[in-house]
Amino acid sequence: MCESLLGEDPALEQAVERAEAAGLPPIAVSPNQGKYLHLTARLMRAEAILELGTLGAYSTIWMARALPAGGRLVTVEASPEYAAVAAANIAAAGVDGVVDLRVGDAHEVVPQLIAEDAGPFDLVFIDADKKSTPQYFRWALELTRLGSLIVVDNVVRGGTVLGGLAPGSHGVRADDAPTIAGVRGFYELLARERRERGEERVSATAIPTVGSKGLDGFGFVLVTGRQPGA
Ligand code: DHB
Ligand code: MG
Repeated sequence: MCESLLGEDPALEQAVERAEAAGLPPIAVSPNQGKYLHLTARLMRAEAILELGTLGAYSTIWMARALPAGGRLVTVEASPEYAAVAAANIAAAGVDGVVDLRVGDAHEVVPQLIAEDAGPFDLVFIDADKKSTPQYFRWALELTRLGSLIVVDNVVRGGTVLGGLAPGSHGVRADDAPTIAGVRGFYELLARERRERGEERVSATAIPTVGSKGLDGFGFVLVTGRQPGA
């Protein structure tokens, strides 16, 4: 499937190889998901993108390539080892001019971005430690504007988030409980928001994705109204 749609892409292929050689976990988005993020950014004409969880910069490169001249992408990575691989991949892909790689725990870096008034970002991609997804989502709301899109990775997790399947099945690790709790917390936030405010501030959906990375999904949240602090 990917071969028909994507063609050869040495920079991205080398990014995967470098990540693998450096021992990073093979949990980057799949090629078709990367391209989907890229097309989404282009459709939105995104000029400012925020990513939480750089890993080896595979998704970073896909999204950075969607930026127009003068665009910017801030990406946050907690692991200095992962960030070193990401920096090499970003430079080799020729997107280092637009990518601002911040190394540090998102719990510290994101409040700094808010304090710096680094937003608003047109597109936010949340793909860091899953237990913190609800907090990252709340912060993303502070860093976006009316019409921004927040994309959240890993909202299906082989079906475990819905509760029908146990961790340990369908490629989801047996010790995945904090991840599942984090993703459920994200859905609970959205459910509470709907109950209390309808779609005044956000409108959301979740799309399962089946591909080379198994069964998972993206959450999509359109910012429809003023955010706290905005
Ligand atoms: C894991 C994290 C991810 O972001 C992902 O897309 C798949 C797996 C993990 O931590 O296992
Ligand atoms: Mg992910």
